[in-house]
Formats: sequence, C-alpha cells, structure tokens
Amino acid sequence: MTKNKKLIDWVNEWAAWCEPTNVQWCDGSEEENQQLLDGMVASGMATKLNEKKRPGSYAFNSDPSDVARVENRTFICTTNKEDAGPTNNWMAPDEMKATMKARYKGCMKGRTLYVIPFSMGPLGSNIAKIGVEITDSPYVVTNMRIMTRMGKKVLDILGENGEFIPCVHSVGAPLEPGQKDSKWPCAPTIDDKFISHFPETYEIWSFGSGYGGNALLGKKCLALRIASKMAKDEGWLAEHMLILGITNPKGEKKYIAAAFPSACGKTNLAMLIPTIPGWKVETVGDDIAWMKFGKDGRLYAINPEAGFFGVAPFTSMDTNPNAMLSARANTIFTNVGVTPDGDIWWEGIGTDCPAGTINWKNKVYDPAAGEPCAHPNARFTAPANQCPAIDAAWEDPAGVPISAILFGGRRPSTVPLIHESNSWNHGVFMGSIVGSEVTAAAIGLKAGVRRDPFAMLPFCGYNMGDYFGHWIEIGKKTTNDKLPKIFFVNWFRKDNGKWLWPGYGENSRVLAYIFDRCNGQGEAVDSPIGKIPAPNAINIEGLDITAGQLEKALAVNADEWKDEVALIDEHYKMFGNHLPKELKEELVGLKKRLEM
Ligand code: GTP
Ligand code: SPV
Ligand code: MN
Repeated sequence: MTKNKKLIDWVNEWAAWCEPTNVQWCDGSEEENQQLLDGMVASGMATKLNEKKRPGSYAFNSDPSDVARVENRTFICTTNKEDAGPTNNWMAPDEMKATMKARYKGCMKGRTLYVIPFSMGPLGSNIAKIGVEITDSPYVVTNMRIMTRMGKKVLDILGENGEFIPCVHSVGAPLEPGQKDSKWPCAPTIDDKFISHFPETYEIWSFGSGYGGNALLGKKCLALRIASKMAKDEGWLAEHMLILGITNPKGEKKYIAAAFPSACGKTNLAMLIPTIPGWKVETVGDDIAWMKFGKDGRLYAINPEAGFFGVAPFTSMDTNPNAMLSARANTIFTNVGVTPDGDIWWEGIGTDCPAGTINWKNKVYDPAAGEPCAHPNARFTAPANQCPAIDAAWEDPAGVPISAILFGGRRPSTVPLIHESNSWNHGVFMGSIVGSEVTAAAIGLKAGVRRDPFAMLPFCGYNMGDYFGHWIEIGKKTTNDKLPKIFFVNWFRKDNGKWLWPGYGENSRVLAYIFDRCNGQGEAVDSPIGKIPAPNAINIEGLDITAGQLEKALAVNADEWKDEVALIDEHYKMFGNHLPKELKEELVGLKKRLEM
C-alpha cells in the first residue's frame, strides 16, 4: 500500500517486537470498517444497536479500570526534567523507552497489529500533520476512522519520502494460544499503563489502556501535547479549545475560540442554539484548535479533528440537540446504557430509563442500587459532518479568523459570569489562572477546585511556564487591533447550591455581548479584575431570571478575590524563573486594584 521505506521499516520493526499474529494496513474503506465492527460484535466486545433507531451504530463497555485518561501515568519525556516543567510527570527518554520496550515485547501475541495512517487537519493542507498509529485494538481503528481523516488517502499524500509522527499503541493484553479474549482487553492495573510523549523526537508511545485520549493518539497526544511543542518552536498555538461561528441578526459573522477544562462545556457551547432571536451559532470544532497568523496579521484557527468524542451524560434534545443529532447514526458509544430495544440511554438524556436496560457494567440497570446506568465519562464518537450546525468553513485549510478567545471553568464562587481583559497580557494572565472543580474526564483526581491553566494542564507538552511565555510572545507578533479580545466566562457560579445562570442555549446572551464588544459596542465598566458588563448590557429579555440573580452572577466580590489572589500566589510559585515577568506584573496590578 505504500513505498515509504521509513514507514515500512518502522512497522516491520515493531511487528517483530510485539509479535502479532497478523499485520493489517488500514485503508479506511467502508468494507474494512464493517469487517472490524462485525468482528467485534462476533467476539462480544461490541453490541450492534437497533438499525432502525441508531443506524450503523455500536455500543462498547470498557473494563471498569479503564474509563478515562490516566493523568498520573501520562509522561513528558525530555532529556532535562526542567523542559517537562513542574506540571508534567517526567522520565528521561532512554529510561522510559527501556521500561516500555520490555512491556511491548510480545504484547500483541494472538492479536492483529493494525496500521492507521491519519491526518490531523484537512487532507493535504499545509498545516495538517500526518501521524501513523500502530495498535492492537480494532476499537481504536474504528474510532480513529471517525475522529481523523484516515487510510489510503493519507498514504498517498505521504508518498515515498513524506514525514509522519510515529504513534505506538497496545492495550497490553497478549493472548496465549486458546485463551479467550476479554470484552475490553487492557493492562490489569493503573501502574501497568503508560501514555508517553517524546517531544524532542516527536514520538508517542502508549501502553495498557484502550480508552479515549489514552488510545486515540491523534487527539490529546499528537494534536495537543506534541503539537503544543511544535507550535512553540514554530510560532503558532495548539490549544484545548472549541471554535464556533456566530452570526448576529444583521448577518455579520465572527468566530470565537474557547478553552474550558475537560467536561466543562466546550461541546455544548460549540453547538449552542441561541435563545435570543435572530442569532445563529455554527460549529467548527469542539475540543482542539490550531491557530496560526494569516497574512493579514490575524489569528486563524483550524479544527484538526474530523469527529466529536463527546461526554454523553446530560446531553439531550433539550440541552444539546446538535450533539444528539450528530450521534443519530454511524456513532460509537462507550460506557452508556443499552435499552432492550437496542438503543442507548444515559442519565439526563431526557427520557425515563426503560426497564431491562443494560448498564455500562454489563448488568441490568437497577435505579435503586445508587449507581449510574452510564459512566459519568461515557462518550459518543460521532462524525463532525453529521452535525446539523457544522460551519461551512469547518474544513477550510486556511482556517477561520478569530475575534475573541474565552477562558472558563466550573467555579461555584468568586468568578463572575463574564469579564473582559484590559489587554493581551492581562488576558494571558486570565488564561494562566483558569481553574475548575474536577470532573470525571480523568481518573484519580482529588475533589475540589484545581488550577488548569488555559485548560491545558494535562495537555501541555513542555514547561508550562515557558508556555505562558509563548502566549506573551504571540501577543507581540501583530498589532493590538488584530489580536483577539480575551474574556473569562463562568456558567457554573452557584448561590445556595443552585446555578445562578441557566447556561446552555442561554449562553448565547453572553456570546452576543462578546460579539458586540468585538464590534466596538456593548457597554462595559471597570472592575479590579477586568471589564464587566454595564447594567443592562446583557440582554435578559424573555429569560426566567431576576435582576438580583444576574447581579449576583456578575458580582466581583473583593474579599473573594483577595482569597483567590493568595491561591494564585501559591500556584505561580511552582513555575519559578520560568514565570514570565509580564505575568508577575499582572498579578501585582491585580493586587493594587484590590487594594491589597
Ligand atoms: P471534553 O470533551 O472532556 O474536553 O469536555 P467539554 O468541555 O466538551 O464538555 P461538554 O460540553 O461535554 O460538557 C460536559 C458537561 O457539562 C455536560 O454534562 C454538560 O451537560 C455540562 N454543561 C455544559 N454546558 C453547561 C452550561 O452552560 N451550564 C451547566 N450547568 N452545565 C453545562
Ligand atoms: C478530555 O478529557 O478533555 C477529552 C476526552 O476531550 S479524552 O479524549 O479522553 O481526553
Ligand atoms: Mn477535551
């Protein structure tokens, strides 16, 4: 299928080491995909869903130990520890390679090694990056086919001498002759799993997990951790951001990118249906943005992915119809409930759970047992082109021009519904202090608010202090009027345990305000933390919320922020002399404005 000698040699070398029964080069065709899915149904790994209700769709249940990213087993392997920085797990490349090589020896016995050539970004575009993943998981192949542009067409572009990012993956569960496979093979314990990155040589090695970001190596591993390092070296940005287009009632359109930590609302905002009349939102991407300067000095964003790997629970026709419709067919569901008539069910889907539904642990769901039917990090893998709100420019290799960048997270207190930065550097400061209550998207995190700068804590492939510095440098590359405006949003503030803001489609009211601010309209007033909307600047017509509630949602409470500043001081200490002086100055400025 290819004459690329480097690729052939690399595959042969790994095949000899991992000892699979077969090697299969994936062409990405319909037939190949169907064969893989049929094979997984036959082996009991997959359930084919009802063809009338959910055409072309399948459900999988993972092993209970393998349900999300494993952050404490994710490594950035650089020669010097300092280059990985204080926020990443580190091991020296040689040591990690020796450790993992021992694990990979014979690890694919009894299995097929699949070769998946894939492109992150539109095929053949000069900003796309090509990777090749080898894996012993047919589940990974079928997911990568949705999430990336995959198969023969990528090999054609690669040609005889093209460069690719090598990605090695094994579930780490070899089969002895005659041994029956488990429904979801993976390495037995968390300590047997490794998600390793070699940013100095642009390589990815993953072992022991079959789930999401641990195994679909184009996504977090390549498009964020490795790409963030490339972006730093080459002067662009690889970010954990959604991209949306928003059109006002006059037909004017702008694009907005937003970084929220995992399971904090990117997919929902990207697909939002505005509740205010005359406005429209369209989706470019829901998880990752690559942004580069165009010839005009503005930042242009592309979505390197081709599908959505979205959080299932609480996605419904009420909260996110575009996501539900994206997943209406040709979708892979992982760790959801399966109803007796072969459809899917999860908490918050908007219907009662039919009796006899099988839960994610393969047991009949018993609501009285106190355990959810779907795992809180259950996901759907759906093709982006099935999204009814997909933007016309979503595959444009030139990208879309970004007018505003949003940061946010789940903050039950302190952080107002929206505030705007006073400058680019102040906006970088805002990004550097993003925090959120932890969610189910990763295993083993302590409950409470944790700092997740730029929503990149688990995804930055180098020293996070230097990453802050890179953002400061980006701001120097063009004129102020061409840089996106930066905002901080928080849909999750609470009063007496209840959301102060209704969220979801109603977030269009905040987006409309942001749109107006980017147009030199929309009235803002200064506060110690940045510009906040003037009273009445946010349209609450037709919204079931009192003026008092909105006031509470927007409030900047100096005492709360003084406590926050103490936490920021603590957070910043970690970065030592890698913390840019500009950010130290921003913190001093904030303290002054708070009269500390
Ligand atoms: P990753 O795929 O993990 O990066 O997550 P994401 O940021 O795309 O998160 P997603 O949009 O899937 O949202 C996660 C959860 O937050 C879902 O259960 C949503 O129902 C909930 N959520 C999203 N937007 C809002 C909102 O505006 N208000 C409230 N209260 N909940 C929201
Ligand atoms: C996230 O955790 O931010 C995700 C899901 O988008 S995963 O691909 O598993 O990382
Ligand atoms: Mn994500």
